[in-house]
Amino acid sequence: MKEHPLTGAIGAEITGIDLRQAISDDLAGSLRDALARHQALFFRDQRLSLEQLKVLTRAFGPPMRLPYVQPLEGEPEIIRVLKEADERGGVFGGDWHTDFSFLERPPAGSILSADVIPPHGGDTVWVSQAAAWEALPAPLRQLLTGRDAIHVGKPYGVKWAPPAKERAGASIKMSRGDPRADAEQAHPAVIRHPLTGRIAAFLNPLYVTRLDGLTEAESRPLLDLIQQHAVRPEFSCRFRWSPGAVAVWDNLFTQHYAVNDYQGHRRLMYRTTFAGPAPRELALSGASRDN
Ligand code: SIN
Repeated sequence: MKEHPLTGAIGAEITGIDLRQAISDDLAGSLRDALARHQALFFRDQRLSLEQLKVLTRAFGPPMRLPYVQPLEGEPEIIRVLKEADERGGVFGGDWHTDFSFLERPPAGSILSADVIPPHGGDTVWVSQAAAWEALPAPLRQLLTGRDAIHVGKPYGVKWAPPAKERAGASIKMSRGDPRADAEQAHPAVIRHPLTGRIAAFLNPLYVTRLDGLTEAESRPLLDLIQQHAVRPEFSCRFRWSPGAVAVWDNLFTQHYAVNDYQGHRRLMYRTTFAGPAPRELALSGASRDN
């Protein structure tokens, strides 16, 4: 297994590995270690079956069943991420986000396995929230450290659910208008990686409504400022998909964005998520304010 970093901040292409073969405990350990260091891993030409995708997912952690998005029939752990050639409007994941951060235990990581890829476009972009933290000005680090941020399942709830005509991904069945999705979930705004010790802000614009102790109106300019920093190109990598490629990413320490620039073309991926520690277990306490 060889690692080829894509940028100075995040992402590595992994070669010399066939994920269709059995994954030994040793190999699973090496993959988890590589994911912790690179935050996003890419494998070309794997062409995984759904069974092989599930085996790969288990190498990283227990597979999760997510609310609000309808899974593939008979495969409760797999979501089909599909945009048909004639679909208009948004795309699933087409905003900066961290998957399902409003859950008490958001996924530790997610996996996408590419099936049909448009002739151009349809890339995915990731940003390292560890790299962003390391370059964040000290006063903003101090503001966040030891503080909670409030996450809400905004697109799925009542208060913030987007109007039907603006809803992304008609091929992906999502349940909307569920008042439970409007429940607030407090997570530490700053977390420390259990393996690397790197620190990151655990914030994203899709689900975070405010910082604890501040109103939404008071939080908004601060969150916008921090988000503007969090997605700087220096902290990013962009993956050009090919059929059969697989991406695995650390969900808690990154944000990602599906680029919706392939109108008139079909794109089909299969996606799983795996569980890990709750953000609360990774909290950086206020006592560490100078980190
Ligand atoms: C997602 O947000 O999980 C989807 C990303 C993609 O389709 O590129």
